[in-house]
Amino acid sequence: MSDWLEIKKSILERIKPSRAEEVTLKEVGGQVVEKINSILKKSGIQGTAEIHGSVPHGTWVTGQMDLDIFVVLDTYRERWQLNEVLDALREHTDWEFTEAWAEHPYFQTEIGGFNLDIVPCFRASIGDRIRSATDRSPLHTVWLKGRLNGLGDDVRILKQFLKVTGIYGAEIKIGGFSGYLCELLVIKHGSFMRLMEAASNWGEKVVLKFKNEEREFNDPLVIYDPVDSLRNVASALRKEQYRRFISAARAFKENPSERFFTFDRTPVDTDELLERIGASSLVFIIIEENKAEVPDTLWGQLRRSVGAIDKQLVLKGFNVIRSTVWSNEETRHVLAFMLGAINRTETDKHFGPPVDLEKDVDKFLGIYTDNPRVVSGPDIEDERWFVVLYRHHTHVKDTIDELLNDGGARIGVSRRTAVRILQHHRVIVGEGIDPYLNEGFERHLAEFIRGRPFWVE
Ligand code: UTP
Ligand code: MN
Repeated sequence: MSDWLEIKKSILERIKPSRAEEVTLKEVGGQVVEKINSILKKSGIQGTAEIHGSVPHGTWVTGQMDLDIFVVLDTYRERWQLNEVLDALREHTDWEFTEAWAEHPYFQTEIGGFNLDIVPCFRASIGDRIRSATDRSPLHTVWLKGRLNGLGDDVRILKQFLKVTGIYGAEIKIGGFSGYLCELLVIKHGSFMRLMEAASNWGEKVVLKFKNEEREFNDPLVIYDPVDSLRNVASALRKEQYRRFISAARAFKENPSERFFTFDRTPVDTDELLERIGASSLVFIIIEENKAEVPDTLWGQLRRSVGAIDKQLVLKGFNVIRSTVWSNEETRHVLAFMLGAINRTETDKHFGPPVDLEKDVDKFLGIYTDNPRVVSGPDIEDERWFVVLYRHHTHVKDTIDELLNDGGARIGVSRRTAVRILQHHRVIVGEGIDPYLNEGFERHLAEFIRGRPFWVE
């Protein structure tokens, strides 16, 4: 057996769900489906509850405990029907729901230790006009059936690879690969290994088709959804994540090791981290609140806000090397900026008298020759004397305080974030961040400062 097959076997031993897990998942799923169907009947709603997503596809990774339940309505009349489904469930069950919707109404709930997404949608056939974003999911299950035969494990391997390299998930926080995209990629290339070989050679843009679609997408990776030619399945993939994937695929191909499938769980050494923080110029904005919005909305706002502040700092003369944002998705968000220096030094060109005004020139030269505040000059430009003067330091904290005196709304910080900033925020420089090095922020920050993916060695 080749090395890779050996490694693959060992990864699957860790990530492939057991038969028992599968049985319980499907049992719980079956019960929930039955319950929902009886509620639909009782409420006079024409539709069916069905399980879709990675469980019926046979591509889920163990321990995830997620079930995607779709309530598929028979006929479309108006979008409001989606909410009627949720109303009926709220009325007729004692399930604890979180209304988790950013763009599409749906519920999250926990039953028997499983996380359930309950998503209403409309019945569609291939080629139909799509009424709501989730109408495609039942079609995906149909399309995949018979095409994923024997490939489920390779999809699991791909998902694990992407999770460990930080590229799994189409949500805004990640901007990476959705589960369905993984399934299509493995089908297209025939195996995980062959996908890695292909991806190592991907360039600026890759277009993959199962049919002969023609619509142009301005995305780095385009895979036409075989159930909807108007949709690019990889539309959520951000350019930098696409590049990261290619880089990781190349490194994997060079040396296919288990490292690519194993999370680094070594605790972060806080003392060492503080030392590193001390050695770089970091400034943090901490925002605290009682309860944040749903993750996709929150991350959209945070990303926009960190981008806006980054840009303003640059305009104000700071050398912003890179910035990042972390959140526990509930009560605390941290924006971090790595700067060339915490202080910005300002120098100003200061013009003196015209060369002809002898008296004034004498005075000017008297003041500015051998003056410690002079960076350059005095010298003549056109008909005037000038010097370049060193004025004063501006501390980044002062600049941030000024930028955020209205919460930052005026400079492009998202409106909700600006309100939170006004309510409670703190600007911290360097090692002052010590009390906040917990909840996973310490790992995020350590990786941010290290600034190098693990496969780059
Ligand atoms: P999930 O996000 O639960 O993904 O979407 P998944 O394929 O089940 O993978 P994991 O194992 O849970 O991570 C469920 C379904 O929603 C549709 C797909 O039909 C998918 O099967 N979907 C979701 C998309 O088409 N695109 C997305 O970005 C997300
Ligand atoms: Mn799922």
